[in-house]
Amino acid sequence: MIDIALPKGRLGEQVYDMLERCGYGCPAIHAESRKLIFEGERARYFWVKPSDVAIYVERGAADVGIVGKDILLEYSPDVYELLDLGVGKCRMAVAGKRDFSDDFDRPLRVATKFTHIAREHYDHRNREIDIIKLNGSIELAPILGLSDVIVDLVETGKTLAENGLEVLETILHFSARLIANKVSYKFKHDETEQLAAAVSGLLARG
Ligand code: PRP
Repeated sequence: MIDIALPKGRLGEQVYDMLERCGYGCPAIHAESRKLIFEGERARYFWVKPSDVAIYVERGAADVGIVGKDILLEYSPDVYELLDLGVGKCRMAVAGKRDFSDDFDRPLRVATKFTHIAREHYDHRNREIDIIKLNGSIELAPILGLSDVIVDLVETGKTLAENGLEVLETILHFSARLIANKVSYKFKHDETEQLAAAVSGLLARG
């Protein structure tokens, strides 16, 4: 039995379907329910807030988990990264109003959830910034004048477009990764490797 932390939402459902096709199904998970734990024959699943998956895995509450590469770069959790799942593709971008132009006489005000990634990006450019840490609906910040730009995830680009913003610069492209707890990887080595090999085989078959 292997404990798997799945990110709640579309990405988690997509990855669960992949795992089901690999023989790690748990039919009860399809039932409409507010339950957070589901036990199948070979795996036990937890539905976790996407940004918390790495914490569950790092601390060993789950053996493996599915997490965006953005979270791994932002928080550097002490876990093994086993596989690029090729799903959940998105990019981290600087975005702002269509008529934005930078005023180099003052620090750039940057609203973001990803303070580490944003800071690194502007450090490389020697651009002084004033970070405004928000937890969601980041797009509101430049519209209301709270910030000059945002650093945020862009998947379809719909949220930006519908709020009159546009990508000014792409920082990095991301996808979802299978990660493992370091101790579990040792003690459940065969189970973990079997799971990773099964998913990797599925990806190879397309
Ligand atoms: C994320 C991200 C953008 C949006 C991008 O927000 O922060 O707001 O998705 O997706 P799109 O390019 O397909 O429109 P999320 O849905 O996680 O909500 P949040 O506002 O709470 O961060």
